[in-house]
Amino acid sequence: MKTFIFALCLMGCAGLVSANEGGPVLLESHANLDSKINLQRGARTFVNYCLSCHSASYMRYSRLIDDLGLTKEVVEKNLMFTTDKIGDPMQVAMKPVDAEAWFGVPPPDLSVIARARGADWLYSFLLGFYKDEKRPTGVNNLYFPTTAMPAVLSRLQGVQVLKTAAEGEAAHGEGHAGHSGPTLELAMPGTQSPEEYAATVRDLVSFMVYLGEPAKLVRYKIGFWVLAFLFVLFISTYLLKKEYWKDVH
Ligand code: HEC
Repeated sequence: MKTFIFALCLMGCAGLVSANEGGPVLLESHANLDSKINLQRGARTFVNYCLSCHSASYMRYSRLIDDLGLTKEVVEKNLMFTTDKIGDPMQVAMKPVDAEAWFGVPPPDLSVIARARGADWLYSFLLGFYKDEKRPTGVNNLYFPTTAMPAVLSRLQGVQVLKTAAEGEAAHGEGHAGHSGPTLELAMPGTQSPEEYAATVRDLVSFMVYLGEPAKLVRYKIGFWVLAFLFVLFISTYLLKKEYWKDVH
């Protein structure tokens, strides 16, 4: 009985953790590591828009060559802005003391952020900025209220505004059920359409998932060969079985 109650408690805790602590429902990121092209795009967005404040110090530039299918020249020319040594980790140019003075909170290292927060949270967070004059940065975030991070991708995404549950319902007419809680609406478009921006963020989040566990790519590769081997083994075993039973029938 005790074990049963303990198991129930554990399940309850797991539920609480994945429920985003009562915050708004997370968007689905559909992040995946299937396409090297998408990971390359994610890496480009990451170094251009995130590495100025955040580091990813567990990752070395040189590793990107093999993992993302890039050449040394491409990595050196397009991805390395904070160092000129290919073996260096992805460090930030800014000093942590300065960062803390400017933002009040030092921007955390993003090496394993996808494991800590989950891909869907990251995706929602990067889509969740909206205009809020009361904040020092001029923006707030639906999924990380009062965050000190500015909306660094707003040139691409545009500017969103927050609609309360009632406003959202009025705008979408009656019968628009299923949307309880505030929603975000695009007030000023950015350089990308909402679909393009969602794809940019999906690639960026996929890259951060890769950052958190680069060995995943190796596992995928090994997994493919294991399955191919089992398939060949299956065919040969089947043929062998046929050969053995030929004389019995
Ligand atoms: C101008 C500096 C700056 C840039 C550029 C920036 N961030 Fe941030 N970021 C911050 C600061 C400051 C925080 C800390 C926010 C807080 O704790 O309130 C933060 C927090 C975060 C967090 C939350 C970490 C956590 O779990 O507490 C994530 C995720 C994040 N940033 C991702 C990104 C990504 C992805 C990019 C690139 C698109 C990016 N940031 C670009 C300053 C920046």
